[in-house]
Amino acid sequence: MPFERRYHQYKQLIDSYLEQFVRDAQPRSLYEPVRYILGGGGKRVRSVLVLIACEAAGGSKRDALLAGVAMELLHNFTLVHDDIMDHAVARRGRKTIHKKWDENTAILVGDELLALAYRALLKTTSPRIHEISRVFTEGVVEVCEGQAYDKDFETQPHVGVHDYLHMIEKKTGKLISVSAELGALIGKGNKRQVTALRRYGEHVGRAFQIQDDLLDITADEKEFGKTIGSDVREGKRTFLYLEALRHVRGSDRKLLLAFARNGGVAKSKVKDFQRIYRETGAIDAARERIAHDLAEAKRELRHLRRTPAREMLQWFTYMLLHRTY
Ligand code: IPE
Ligand code: IPE
Ligand code: MG
Ligand code: MG
Ligand code: MG
Repeated sequence: MPFERRYHQYKQLIDSYLEQFVRDAQPRSLYEPVRYILGGGGKRVRSVLVLIACEAAGGSKRDALLAGVAMELLHNFTLVHDDIMDHAVARRGRKTIHKKWDENTAILVGDELLALAYRALLKTTSPRIHEISRVFTEGVVEVCEGQAYDKDFETQPHVGVHDYLHMIEKKTGKLISVSAELGALIGKGNKRQVTALRRYGEHVGRAFQIQDDLLDITADEKEFGKTIGSDVREGKRTFLYLEALRHVRGSDRKLLLAFARNGGVAKSKVKDFQRIYRETGAIDAARERIAHDLAEAKRELRHLRRTPAREMLQWFTYMLLHRTY
Protein backbone atom coordinates (compact mmCIF):
# COMPACT_ATOMS: atom_id res chain seq x y z
CA MET A 1 0.00 0.00 0.00
CA PRO A 2 1.39 3.47 -0.83
CA PHE A 3 2.65 5.39 2.21
CA GLU A 4 0.20 8.28 1.77
CA ARG A 5 -2.73 5.87 1.83
CA ARG A 6 -1.48 4.11 4.89
CA TYR A 7 -0.94 7.42 6.68
CA HIS A 8 -4.47 8.47 5.77
CA GLN A 9 -5.84 5.17 7.07
CA TYR A 10 -4.01 5.46 10.41
CA LYS A 11 -5.12 9.07 10.75
CA GLN A 12 -8.73 8.06 10.17
CA LEU A 13 -8.45 5.38 12.79
CA ILE A 14 -7.24 7.95 15.32
CA ASP A 15 -9.92 10.44 14.25
CA SER A 16 -12.71 7.93 14.82
CA TYR A 17 -11.38 6.96 18.25
CA LEU A 18 -11.10 10.61 19.25
CA GLU A 19 -14.64 11.24 18.14
CA GLN A 20 -15.97 8.27 20.12
CA PHE A 21 -14.01 9.31 23.17
CA VAL A 22 -16.05 12.49 23.73
CA ARG A 23 -19.19 11.85 21.69
CA ASP A 24 -21.95 12.02 24.30
CA ALA A 25 -20.17 13.60 27.25
CA GLN A 26 -21.77 16.40 29.28
CA PRO A 27 -21.82 19.28 30.21
CA ARG A 28 -22.02 20.96 26.85
CA SER A 29 -20.21 24.08 28.07
CA LEU A 30 -17.09 21.91 28.40
CA TYR A 31 -17.49 19.29 25.69
CA GLU A 32 -18.69 21.50 22.86
CA PRO A 33 -15.33 23.28 22.67
CA VAL A 34 -13.55 19.95 23.33
CA ARG A 35 -15.34 18.41 20.32
CA TYR A 36 -14.61 21.58 18.34
CA ILE A 37 -10.85 21.34 18.81
CA LEU A 38 -10.71 17.57 18.32
CA GLY A 39 -12.93 17.68 15.25
CA GLY A 40 -11.16 20.61 13.64
CA GLY A 41 -8.58 18.69 11.65
CA GLY A 42 -4.92 18.41 12.51
CA LYS A 43 -2.33 16.24 10.85
CA ARG A 44 -2.26 13.67 13.70
CA VAL A 45 1.51 13.40 13.28
CA ARG A 46 2.22 12.30 16.87
CA SER A 47 -0.52 9.70 17.10
CA VAL A 48 0.29 8.16 13.72
CA LEU A 49 3.93 8.03 14.81
CA VAL A 50 2.94 6.00 17.89
CA LEU A 51 1.30 3.42 15.63
CA ILE A 52 4.14 3.15 13.11
CA ALA A 53 6.82 3.03 15.81
CA CYS A 54 4.93 0.18 17.49
CA GLU A 55 4.91 -1.74 14.21
CA ALA A 56 8.58 -0.93 13.58
CA ALA A 57 9.42 -2.51 16.95
CA GLY A 58 7.51 -5.65 15.97
CA GLY A 59 4.13 -4.94 17.59
CA SER A 60 0.58 -4.54 16.34
CA LYS A 61 -0.83 -1.04 15.85
CA ARG A 62 -4.09 -2.04 17.59
CA ASP A 63 -2.17 -2.30 20.88
CA ALA A 64 -0.88 1.25 20.45
CA LEU A 65 -4.15 2.92 19.50
CA LEU A 66 -5.06 4.24 22.93
CA ALA A 67 -1.57 5.59 23.47
CA GLY A 68 -1.85 7.27 20.07
CA VAL A 69 -5.15 8.82 21.10
CA ALA A 70 -3.53 9.91 24.39
CA MET A 71 -0.71 11.67 22.52
CA GLU A 72 -3.19 13.49 20.33
CA LEU A 73 -5.24 14.61 23.34
CA LEU A 74 -2.10 15.78 25.09
CA HIS A 75 -0.94 17.64 21.98
CA ASN A 76 -4.31 19.38 21.67
CA PHE A 77 -4.13 20.41 25.32
CA THR A 78 -0.80 22.12 24.60
CA LEU A 79 -2.28 23.88 21.56
CA VAL A 80 -5.28 25.29 23.40
CA HIS A 81 -3.13 26.76 26.17
CA ASP A 82 -0.39 27.79 23.72
CA ASP A 83 -2.95 29.85 21.79
CA ILE A 84 -3.84 31.79 24.92
CA MET A 85 -0.16 32.37 25.69
CA ASP A 86 0.62 33.42 22.08
CA HIS A 87 -2.54 35.55 21.64
CA ALA A 88 -3.36 33.47 18.58
CA VAL A 89 -6.71 34.03 16.87
CA ALA A 90 -6.63 31.20 14.30
CA ARG A 91 -5.78 27.51 14.32
CA ARG A 92 -6.50 24.88 11.67
CA GLY A 93 -8.28 27.60 9.70
CA ARG A 94 -10.77 28.33 12.47
CA LYS A 95 -11.05 30.60 15.49
CA THR A 96 -9.05 29.55 18.52
CA ILE A 97 -11.05 28.41 21.55
CA HIS A 98 -10.32 31.46 23.67
CA LYS A 99 -11.55 33.67 20.80
CA LYS A 100 -14.65 31.65 19.91
CA TRP A 101 -15.53 31.21 23.59
CA ASP A 102 -13.34 32.91 26.22
CA GLU A 103 -10.11 32.37 28.17
CA ASN A 104 -11.77 30.61 31.10
CA THR A 105 -13.30 28.10 28.73
CA ALA A 106 -9.95 27.54 27.00
CA ILE A 107 -8.12 26.99 30.31
CA LEU A 108 -10.66 24.40 31.41
CA VAL A 109 -10.76 22.70 28.00
CA GLY A 110 -6.97 22.38 28.16
CA ASP A 111 -7.12 20.86 31.65
CA GLU A 112 -9.81 18.45 30.52
CA LEU A 113 -7.82 17.36 27.48
CA LEU A 114 -4.85 16.59 29.68
CA ALA A 115 -7.02 14.49 31.99
CA LEU A 116 -8.61 12.71 29.02
CA ALA A 117 -5.13 11.99 27.71
CA TYR A 118 -4.27 10.13 30.93
CA ARG A 119 -7.61 8.34 30.82
CA ALA A 120 -6.80 7.04 27.33
CA LEU A 121 -3.19 6.18 28.14
CA LEU A 122 -4.11 4.19 31.23
CA LYS A 123 -6.44 1.99 29.19
CA THR A 124 -3.39 0.64 27.37
CA THR A 125 -2.78 -3.02 28.10
CA SER A 126 0.93 -3.65 28.38
CA PRO A 127 3.24 -5.24 30.93
CA ARG A 128 5.25 -2.02 30.58
CA ILE A 129 2.43 0.30 31.62
CA HIS A 130 4.48 1.78 34.46
CA GLU A 131 7.33 2.73 32.10
CA ILE A 132 4.81 3.99 29.54
CA SER A 133 3.17 6.26 32.13
CA ARG A 134 6.56 7.53 33.28
CA VAL A 135 7.67 8.43 29.75
CA PHE A 136 4.35 10.14 29.04
CA THR A 137 4.51 12.15 32.27
CA GLU A 138 8.07 13.30 31.54
CA GLY A 139 6.70 14.53 28.21
CA VAL A 140 4.11 16.71 29.95
CA VAL A 141 6.73 18.13 32.33
CA GLU A 142 9.13 19.01 29.51
CA VAL A 143 6.49 20.68 27.36
CA CYS A 144 5.70 22.99 30.28
CA GLU A 145 9.42 23.75 30.73
CA GLY A 146 9.79 24.40 27.00
CA GLN A 147 6.79 26.71 26.96
CA ALA A 148 8.26 28.62 29.91
CA TYR A 149 11.54 29.16 28.01
CA ASP A 150 9.56 30.19 24.94
CA LYS A 151 7.83 32.96 26.89
CA ASP A 152 11.01 33.94 28.79
CA PHE A 153 12.90 34.37 25.52
CA GLU A 154 10.41 36.99 24.30
CA THR A 155 11.85 39.44 26.82
CA GLN A 156 15.31 38.06 27.68
CA PRO A 157 18.08 40.35 26.32
CA HIS A 158 20.33 37.61 24.89
CA VAL A 159 19.13 34.38 23.37
CA GLY A 160 21.52 32.19 21.38
CA VAL A 161 20.93 29.35 18.93
CA HIS A 162 21.80 26.88 21.69
CA ASP A 163 19.13 28.33 23.97
CA TYR A 164 16.66 28.17 21.13
CA LEU A 165 17.45 24.54 20.31
CA HIS A 166 17.17 23.56 23.97
CA MET A 167 13.78 25.29 24.14
CA ILE A 168 12.32 23.63 21.01
CA GLU A 169 13.61 20.21 22.06
CA LYS A 170 11.38 20.62 25.10
CA LYS A 171 8.33 22.41 23.79
CA THR A 172 7.96 20.36 20.59
CA GLY A 173 10.68 17.72 20.19
CA LYS A 174 9.80 15.95 23.39
CA LEU A 175 6.21 15.01 22.50
CA ILE A 176 7.34 13.71 19.13
CA SER A 177 10.09 11.60 20.68
CA VAL A 178 7.71 10.42 23.41
CA SER A 179 5.31 9.29 20.66
CA ALA A 180 8.00 7.19 18.99
CA GLU A 181 9.22 5.83 22.32
CA LEU A 182 5.72 4.85 23.51
CA GLY A 183 5.13 3.00 20.25
CA ALA A 184 8.41 1.14 20.71
CA LEU A 185 7.57 0.23 24.33
CA ILE A 186 4.08 -0.99 23.47
CA GLY A 187 5.50 -2.98 20.55
CA LYS A 188 7.80 -4.75 23.04
CA GLY A 189 10.88 -3.31 21.41
CA ASN A 190 14.27 -4.18 22.87
CA LYS A 191 16.56 -1.52 24.36
CA ARG A 192 18.29 -0.80 21.08
CA GLN A 193 14.99 -0.34 19.23
CA VAL A 194 13.48 1.85 21.94
CA THR A 195 16.55 4.10 21.97
CA ALA A 196 16.67 4.33 18.18
CA LEU A 197 13.01 5.29 17.96
CA ARG A 198 13.32 7.84 20.75
CA ARG A 199 16.29 9.44 19.01
CA TYR A 200 14.51 9.35 15.67
CA GLY A 201 11.70 11.31 17.36
CA GLU A 202 14.12 13.83 18.85
CA HIS A 203 15.59 14.67 15.44
CA VAL A 204 12.20 14.74 13.76
CA GLY A 205 10.87 16.93 16.57
CA ARG A 206 13.59 19.52 16.22
CA ALA A 207 13.08 19.69 12.46
CA PHE A 208 9.34 19.92 12.98
CA GLN A 209 9.55 23.09 15.07
CA ILE A 210 12.11 24.81 12.82
CA GLN A 211 9.76 24.09 9.95
CA ASP A 212 6.81 25.46 11.91
CA ASP A 213 8.85 28.65 12.42
CA LEU A 214 9.64 28.72 8.70
CA LEU A 215 6.02 28.16 7.67
CA ASP A 216 4.94 30.88 10.11
CA ILE A 217 6.62 33.39 7.79
CA THR A 218 6.52 31.68 4.36
CA ALA A 219 3.33 29.61 4.18
CA ASP A 220 0.04 30.41 2.54
CA GLU A 221 -2.19 31.62 5.38
CA LYS A 222 -5.29 29.77 4.22
CA GLU A 223 -3.46 26.50 3.85
CA PHE A 224 -1.42 26.91 7.06
CA GLY A 225 -4.56 27.72 9.05
CA LYS A 226 -2.68 30.07 11.42
CA THR A 227 -1.86 33.78 11.09
CA ILE A 228 1.27 34.39 9.01
CA GLY A 229 3.87 36.45 10.83
CA SER A 230 2.50 35.66 14.27
CA ASP A 231 5.98 34.81 15.65
CA VAL A 232 7.38 38.16 14.52
CA ARG A 233 4.42 40.01 15.98
CA GLU A 234 4.77 38.20 19.30
CA GLY A 235 8.54 38.73 19.53
CA LYS A 236 9.53 35.06 19.22
CA ARG A 237 13.25 34.40 18.85
CA THR A 238 12.88 31.73 16.20
CA PHE A 239 15.65 29.99 14.27
CA LEU A 240 15.04 32.47 11.42
CA TYR A 241 15.33 35.47 13.69
CA LEU A 242 18.58 34.29 15.30
CA GLU A 243 20.07 33.36 11.94
CA ALA A 244 19.12 36.72 10.39
CA LEU A 245 20.59 38.59 13.35
CA ARG A 246 23.99 37.04 12.63
CA HIS A 247 24.15 38.62 9.18
CA VAL A 248 21.99 41.73 9.15
CA ARG A 249 23.45 45.26 9.04
CA GLY A 250 22.24 48.88 8.98
CA SER A 251 18.62 49.89 9.51
CA ASP A 252 17.43 46.30 9.18
CA ARG A 253 19.62 45.41 12.16
CA LYS A 254 17.98 48.20 14.17
CA LEU A 255 14.59 46.77 13.30
CA LEU A 256 15.61 43.32 14.48
CA LEU A 257 17.06 44.65 17.72
CA ALA A 258 14.06 46.85 18.45
CA PHE A 259 11.88 43.74 18.05
CA ALA A 260 13.47 42.16 21.09
CA ARG A 261 13.11 45.32 23.19
CA ASN A 262 9.47 45.88 22.26
CA GLY A 263 8.29 42.28 22.46
CA GLY A 264 7.49 42.07 18.76
CA VAL A 265 6.45 44.38 15.94
CA ALA A 266 3.32 45.78 14.29
CA LYS A 267 1.56 43.83 11.55
CA SER A 268 2.83 46.29 8.92
CA LYS A 269 6.43 45.19 9.62
CA VAL A 270 5.86 41.50 8.86
CA LYS A 271 6.76 41.97 5.20
CA ASP A 272 10.08 43.62 6.21
CA PHE A 273 10.89 40.52 8.22
CA GLN A 274 9.96 38.31 5.29
CA ARG A 275 12.41 40.30 3.14
CA ILE A 276 15.18 40.33 5.77
CA TYR A 277 14.85 36.61 6.40
CA ARG A 278 15.15 36.01 2.66
CA GLU A 279 18.02 38.45 2.03
CA THR A 280 20.14 37.31 4.98
CA GLY A 281 19.83 33.67 3.92
CA ALA A 282 17.93 32.80 7.12
CA ILE A 283 15.23 31.01 5.13
CA ASP A 284 17.78 28.90 3.28
CA ALA A 285 19.62 28.18 6.53
CA ALA A 286 16.38 26.98 8.14
CA ARG A 287 15.66 24.71 5.16
CA GLU A 288 19.16 23.25 5.40
CA ARG A 289 18.85 22.68 9.12
CA ILE A 290 15.50 20.91 8.70
CA ALA A 291 16.93 18.64 6.00
CA HIS A 292 19.98 17.94 8.19
CA ASP A 293 17.89 16.98 11.24
CA LEU A 294 15.62 14.76 9.16
CA ALA A 295 18.65 13.01 7.67
CA GLU A 296 19.91 12.40 11.23
CA ALA A 297 16.51 10.97 12.11
CA LYS A 298 16.72 8.56 9.18
CA ARG A 299 20.17 7.39 10.29
CA GLU A 300 18.70 6.14 13.57
CA LEU A 301 16.51 3.72 11.65
CA ARG A 302 19.50 1.52 10.81
CA HIS A 303 19.13 0.04 14.31
CA LEU A 304 15.72 -1.37 13.36
CA ARG A 305 14.87 -4.46 11.38
CA ARG A 306 14.08 -3.89 7.71
CA THR A 307 10.29 -3.91 7.66
CA PRO A 308 7.55 -1.98 5.84
CA ALA A 309 7.08 0.04 9.05
CA ARG A 310 10.72 1.12 8.96
CA GLU A 311 10.24 2.24 5.37
CA MET A 312 7.18 4.15 6.45
CA LEU A 313 9.28 5.98 9.07
CA GLN A 314 11.71 6.90 6.31
CA TRP A 315 8.90 8.20 4.15
CA PHE A 316 7.58 10.11 7.19
CA THR A 317 10.72 12.29 7.20
CA TYR A 318 10.25 12.95 3.48
CA MET A 319 6.61 13.87 4.01
CA LEU A 320 7.52 16.27 6.83
CA LEU A 321 10.26 17.90 4.76
CA HIS A 322 7.71 18.78 2.10
CA ARG A 323 4.79 19.77 4.27
CA THR A 324 3.09 23.09 3.58
CA TYR A 325 0.88 23.27 6.71
C1 IPE B 1 1.57 22.62 15.96
O1 IPE B 1 1.61 21.23 15.78
C2 IPE B 1 2.37 22.99 17.15
C3 IPE B 1 3.80 22.70 17.03
C4 IPE B 1 4.42 21.97 17.89
C5 IPE B 1 4.57 23.28 15.97
P1 IPE B 1 1.06 20.54 14.49
O2 IPE B 1 1.61 21.21 13.27
O3 IPE B 1 1.28 19.08 14.59
O4 IPE B 1 -0.49 20.87 14.57
P2 IPE B 1 -1.75 20.05 14.04
O5 IPE B 1 -2.16 19.12 15.12
O6 IPE B 1 -1.39 19.35 12.77
O7 IPE B 1 -2.80 21.11 13.82
C1 IPE C 1 4.31 25.07 19.67
O1 IPE C 1 4.97 26.24 19.36
C2 IPE C 1 4.65 24.56 21.00
C3 IPE C 1 3.58 23.90 21.74
C4 IPE C 1 3.87 23.28 22.80
C5 IPE C 1 2.18 23.93 21.33
P1 IPE C 1 4.18 27.33 18.53
O2 IPE C 1 3.58 28.35 19.42
O3 IPE C 1 5.05 27.81 17.44
O4 IPE C 1 2.99 26.48 17.87
P2 IPE C 1 1.90 27.09 16.90
O5 IPE C 1 2.62 27.73 15.74
O6 IPE C 1 1.11 28.07 17.69
O7 IPE C 1 1.09 25.91 16.45
MG1 MG D 1 3.91 29.04 21.33
MG1 MG E 1 1.68 29.28 19.20
MG1 MG F 1 4.51 28.29 15.47
